[in-house]
Amino acid sequence: MAEVQLPTYDIVIFGASGFTGKHVVREALKFLSPDSPLKTLALAGRNPSKLSETLKWASTSTSHPTIPLLVADTSDPPSLRRMASQAKVLLNCVGPFRLHGDPVVDACVEAGCDYLDICGEPEFMEKMEAVYHEKAVEKCSLVICACGFDSIPAEFGFMFNSSQWVYPAVPNRIEAYLYAESDKKIVGNFATFESAVLGLANADKLMKLRRSGRRRARPSIPGYAPPKESRIERQKKLGLWALKIPSADATVVRRTLSILTENPNGLQGVNEHPKQEEKRIAFWSRVKPAHFGVKVASKNLLDLLPWITVGLSIGRLGGSSIGRWFLLTFPSVFSLGKFRKKGPTKDQLGSASFKMWFVGHGFSDAKLASRRNAGPDTEIVTRVMGPEFGYLTTSIILVQCALIVLERWGDLPKGGVFPPGIVFGPTDLQDRLQKNGVCFEF
Ligand SMILES: NC(=O)c1ccc[n+]([C@@H]2O[C@H](COP(=O)([O-])OP(=O)(O)OC[C@H]3O[C@@H](n4cnc5c(N)ncnc54)[C@H](OP(=O)(O)O)[C@@H]3O)[C@@H](O)[C@H]2O)c1
Repeated sequence: MAEVQLPTYDIVIFGASGFTGKHVVREALKFLSPDSPLKTLALAGRNPSKLSETLKWASTSTSHPTIPLLVADTSDPPSLRRMASQAKVLLNCVGPFRLHGDPVVDACVEAGCDYLDICGEPEFMEKMEAVYHEKAVEKCSLVICACGFDSIPAEFGFMFNSSQWVYPAVPNRIEAYLYAESDKKIVGNFATFESAVLGLANADKLMKLRRSGRRRARPSIPGYAPPKESRIERQKKLGLWALKIPSADATVVRRTLSILTENPNGLQGVNEHPKQEEKRIAFWSRVKPAHFGVKVASKNLLDLLPWITVGLSIGRLGGSSIGRWFLLTFPSVFSLGKFRKKGPTKDQLGSASFKMWFVGHGFSDAKLASRRNAGPDTEIVTRVMGPEFGYLTTSIILVQCALIVLERWGDLPKGGVFPPGIVFGPTDLQDRLQKNGVCFEF
């Protein structure tokens, strides 16, 4: 019997009924039009009535558009294959990714569709690269994890700062300070807390994966590696207290810098116009490698207490199954209210915003870097700002990345598993973010 040809959609949003997924749907609907690269959209998830509720919630008018709803469950591989075969670009919002992501990537690579997600879990991202890169190249499927707040503001903020260093000046390290602002409480949804707890519980797996994989190329960074510093810092210039946190951002930036070391002109597009090729080469010639780290910051030392509590609770309890049970049953208690099972309210989302400062330290002349005991003598500060970061900024970023994949596919590599910076760096993503409320300032 002949197979029935299912319709395909420009974008399929999987996990559309989740807390983040529904904001992604709302953002995507703004760009759905016959004149846009996004002409057709479908929502996917395991529960059709929740998808239908999501569509009502996300539509601005009372007559919500007729958008197909696809049923797919991560525990049902045929349903994932069906969904992937119907997508040009699949946006995966189903997490924690370590629990749900692998079969979705597998289905997308097999179907040859492009895959973007909002993962912030280093082990998942690096495992997908190790397992699927070769096959994704062969099947012409682009797989790009971390296309949300993790880790595009960090990657683009890093590249923006490092591009301000004009030769002979060179950066040595760039430190990002994330400052979330609101007159209401700043709250995250449970799934992010769960991802962090499971990440720590499986930290040894990440180490094992890194040891077993091929050695990554290391960029050559002028000067010494920064000395080990205390966890809490008073950042006088910004007037902030800052706490060093383990961050997916730093690992994603390192992966982009490593690919750049092996491909100093970046990655060639599958059908690149000579003008774009010139633009790409010029873009990467301005980006300089540097050490990178991320800190959460606040005006008041006491405001760091919930972050310290989250770190200590996960560190102390995350290693045992009974400890994890307590953490995952009472997230609000163990995070002093930073994470809730119901996520932030509409008011909390609406009143929040973020600023991420990038403080670059380096040398006014690259020659100084090779002198014994010479430390950085120059500082460049830049920043990225936007609305509430976890859900609103994440949705803006994910949708803009998807629009670029649809519209500018010829400028992008034909397939493979990559971090977002190396793929989107030389595109117009920064301009698009700027137009949609995520701003870069020098
Ligand atoms: N990168 C970033 O900055 C960023 C920002 C926000 C979130 N995230 C990450 O995104 C993920 C989702 O977060 P969230 O807060 O949106 O979580 P959430 O509200 O719990 O949503 C999870 C979604 O996954 C779906 N799902 C769960 N199990 C499934 C299965 N077996 N098959 C198909 N769908 C399934 C849920 O479907 P139902 O609706 O049917 O339950 C729901 O739509 C987390 O990993 C989080 O860490 C990252």
